[in-house]
Amino acid sequence: MLRLLVCVSGGGTNLQAILDAIDHGIITNARVETVISNNENAYALERARSRGIEALCLSPKSYETRELFNQAFTDRVKRINPDLIVLAGFLVAIPAAMIEAFENRIINIHPSLIPSFCGVGFYGLRVHEAVLARGVKVTGATVHFVDGGMDTGPILLQKAVEVCQQDTPRELQQRVMEQAEWKILPQAIDLIANGRVEVTEGKAYII
Ligand code: GAR
Repeated sequence: MLRLLVCVSGGGTNLQAILDAIDHGIITNARVETVISNNENAYALERARSRGIEALCLSPKSYETRELFNQAFTDRVKRINPDLIVLAGFLVAIPAAMIEAFENRIINIHPSLIPSFCGVGFYGLRVHEAVLARGVKVTGATVHFVDGGMDTGPILLQKAVEVCQQDTPRELQQRVMEQAEWKILPQAIDLIANGRVEVTEGKAYII
């Protein structure tokens, strides 16, 4: 049974999609052990607590320096020692020491088709604003492993979503979540939980 740590910053609809997928047998062989947020008001923490899942807040604001936060965050995660860390809308840069300790054991959901609309400054609604400003006709979501760069790790799953001419950023965000994120994130976890993913030379393969 794969023990998951899910890291969240906001509403936690992707966390909910994971929990629902476990309930419905779409994800097998995995359970959410702990949820961590950098934001104590994140509704995602409520979603976890209401199901009896350990949910804690670790905020950079509670530490004097970023280094001290990074140290505390990494230590805590090492103590939990999850099999897989899922970044489900987690808007904090993962400390290098944590990436090293959990190589190929951290995945992230990003709301665009990487390598478009990703990297520094592209998160949340900003991604969809940039997509609409550029006028692309297709966007989507990507699940990738986390390496030392920003959205640069091996890509595991992607799903395309149509952009409509009248879309507002919020409408587009909702469609990308419904049609892509809430599907490929649970699917990725199920593949990993069932030993069907291999990462070799910077690329992820489904076996
Ligand atoms: C999601 O759209 C996720 O892809 C995005 O934040 C949102 C969180 O929503 N993540 C990023 O932009 C990471 N670069 P949620 O809290 O409802 O799951």
